[in-house]
Amino acid sequence: MDLYEYQARDLFERYGVPVLAGIVADTAEEARAAAEKLGGVVVVKAQVKIGGRGKAGGVKVARTPGEAFAAAQAILGLDIKGHRVERVMVAAGADIVEEYYFSVLLDRANRSYLALCSVEGGMDIEQLAETKPEALARVEVCPIEGINEVKALEIARAANFPEELVPQVAQVFERLYAVYSGEDATLVEVNPLVRTSAGDIIALDGKISIDENAEFRQPDHAGYVDKAAENPLECKAKELDLNYVKLDGEVGVIGNGAGLVMSTLDVVAYAGEAHGNVKPANFLDIGGGASAEVMANGLDVILSDQQVRSVFVNVFGGITACDAVANGIVGALEKLGDSANKPLVVRLDGNNVEEGRLILNEANHPLVIQAATMDEGAAKAAELANAR
Ligand SMILES: Nc1ncnc2c1ncn2[C@@H]1O[C@H](COP(=O)(O)OP(=O)(O)OP(=O)(O)O)[C@@H](O)[C@H]1O
Ligand SMILES: [Mg+2]
Repeated sequence: MDLYEYQARDLFERYGVPVLAGIVADTAEEARAAAEKLGGVVVVKAQVKIGGRGKAGGVKVARTPGEAFAAAQAILGLDIKGHRVERVMVAAGADIVEEYYFSVLLDRANRSYLALCSVEGGMDIEQLAETKPEALARVEVCPIEGINEVKALEIARAANFPEELVPQVAQVFERLYAVYSGEDATLVEVNPLVRTSAGDIIALDGKISIDENAEFRQPDHAGYVDKAAENPLECKAKELDLNYVKLDGEVGVIGNGAGLVMSTLDVVAYAGEAHGNVKPANFLDIGGGASAEVMANGLDVILSDQQVRSVFVNVFGGITACDAVANGIVGALEKLGDSANKPLVVRLDGNNVEEGRLILNEANHPLVIQAATMDEGAAKAAELANAR
């Protein structure tokens, strides 16, 4: 889960990372009051969970409370790459001399942590990594030792900080690592980390991604979930304890086992090329025990997706054999009644496949069409989605 910049700022402050004052505002009027309270030059910043806010007009300097009002008016409601700005942060203005870059992240490929750091911050870091890779220091961080003083100094030197700044920035790196580790983050990024005319090193922007798997030991993190920004179908699925991700297509997909569902998405997308380019509408793994209840919940979520025009149920019977799955499907359709209103292509294979197919044949539900193979099922579901 990604945090908003103002939430990252608050966490930084709690861990002793130097930040400037910031006040959130949901209206232009509140932004004016915030600017009055802060006094002096402020920066009004869009709070959206996407990068490139500055370039999109989401970061504006305001010299007076009146200007802060106008800036907030311009920024609130703005669409930044599909994210609507509902809130701004009014931050105290910094007198910037230099901008740097620092991040620490989970390096999955190397099963380790990685610190990235550059004295050339502020700009697009992806672009820097491409055009001037030598300017971006990459330092492996051992997850057990973390960024201690020695490691922090190593990072600062690898990034070519002038020797007189090394101890000062290194101390900030240590504290940023404390945030990373203390909050079970998978990313802590500061761009820019700045040096001000007064000689202070300050984190002016912050991005934090936290690992939801650590929820059990991070009771505070529940407060970061913002329902408004989440997809309503994903919210509903989460409440039902389903492993569901909304995608932008027309063919609903239900399968058992993440690997099977992933390959089902590929096969549906491929089949869709021959049928008006329809695409999978979601990822949904109903796991091992495909009971009628889980099947009904899954179908319910998928059918409430307005974009869905057909559903492909692709199940390989294992511990839960095909007859149990077939009973689950029949039970689910009974449970859903009239709200089940889109064609359902079912492909069963694996344990007790004959019994499973027989159960579906006997139930003879008008919406259910059986397919013998995954390819056939995907093609049928794509064809039906395109025809409706
Ligand atoms: N409090 C501040 N005082 C002075 N200048 C600021 C302040 N906050 C941001 N800036 C300036 O605005 C630039 C962009 O700000 P920021 O990094 O927060 O947004 P961004 O990088 O455009 O957005 P994103 O991080 O979403 O890509 C900074 O590089 C800095 O020069
Ligand atoms: Mg930034």
